[in-house]
Amino acid sequence: MPGQNLLFRGDNIEVLRNHIPPSTVDLCYIDPPFHSRRNYNQIYNNAAGNGRSRARAFSDTWSWDDAAREGYDEILANAGARYHARTIDLIRGLEPVLGRGSLLAYLAAMARRIAAIHHVLKPTGSLFLHCDPVASHYLKLLLDSTFCPRGGDFRNEIVWCYSHGGKSSRWFGRKHDVIFFYSKSAKYQFDPAAVRVAMRSGKESFGGRLETGADGRKYRLVYGTRNARGETRYYKYYLDEGKVAEDWWTDINSIQASSAERRGYPTQKPEALLERIIGACSRPGDTVLDAYCGSGTSMVAAERHQRAWIGIDLAPQSIALVLERMKDTFGPEVLKRITVAGL
Ligand SMILES: C[S@@+](CC[C@H](N)C(=O)[O-])C[C@H]1O[C@@H](n2cnc3c(N)ncnc32)[C@H](O)[C@@H]1O
Repeated sequence: MPGQNLLFRGDNIEVLRNHIPPSTVDLCYIDPPFHSRRNYNQIYNNAAGNGRSRARAFSDTWSWDDAAREGYDEILANAGARYHARTIDLIRGLEPVLGRGSLLAYLAAMARRIAAIHHVLKPTGSLFLHCDPVASHYLKLLLDSTFCPRGGDFRNEIVWCYSHGGKSSRWFGRKHDVIFFYSKSAKYQFDPAAVRVAMRSGKESFGGRLETGADGRKYRLVYGTRNARGETRYYKYYLDEGKVAEDWWTDINSIQASSAERRGYPTQKPEALLERIIGACSRPGDTVLDAYCGSGTSMVAAERHQRAWIGIDLAPQSIALVLERMKDTFGPEVLKRITVAGL
């Protein structure tokens, strides 16, 4: 239905396979459990918005149980021809390396969901997968095996840097997440104009000399290589024109205790992060999917930028929180354009 957004409560594998038609999604962002071996039990706003309640948000602990075994066997049997041979070979090959334990259970679960997301993406669609360095190297293999043999490709590994949280005296502070960007084909949406950021100057710019033109405009002067005639080429980058954001992001703060958008949901991501991704890789009217929507950050960013959206989450608390957040952010009318389905 045009203008109607969808919010599903349930396991995303079921929703992706049975409730989202193939090749209908323009952009998918996911922020799944990272294999952190933690349970996120925290206090966050309750559904009615009239207080705070303690509830389990979600668990990120994995074990080689019946569900893991079934998932693993399903991939190897390839019932329904869902998996590319390379994904099957990869999962089979990881078994003797990792053993039948928590990491293989996690990767089999992620392989199934990445394949299901690939299936619902339009040929021009893209996936952004948010993770951290604990399992990013394995997730990249899964993404490669799913997207690359079918005409898609790796586009970016975005490093999102922040500085909140605990400090360590035993290793360098672990203060970045990784966001993989894959497109389903060579023809995909990317709008560089939507993701221009301020040009840094001086030492911060890692190169060039800061100059001021006769018109008063500041620019970085960068010398290039010599040409065949021995002349040195140079380039002027005007600070006021900005530049397309690089693949390392230091300008988006993580959610702070005082952030206005904070809902108290553990692992809540900043709206600015999603706005950059949605702005770059979708257009107004496009459909944005978040298959692990948590507190609904993607939904807020999509709504603000006139995208249609689909959110999925396993936890009833999350669905209630998304509705409450949408209402607080956009007013009660927005709820009329949200269809909630529970599996
Ligand atoms: C890291 S949080 C997402 C946070 C979100 N990006 C935000 O800004 O609030 C991961 C979410 O995935 C959900 N989840 C975990 N496994 C799931 C599954 N199989 N299907 C649907 N949701 C799932 C959890 O309930 C949790 O809300």
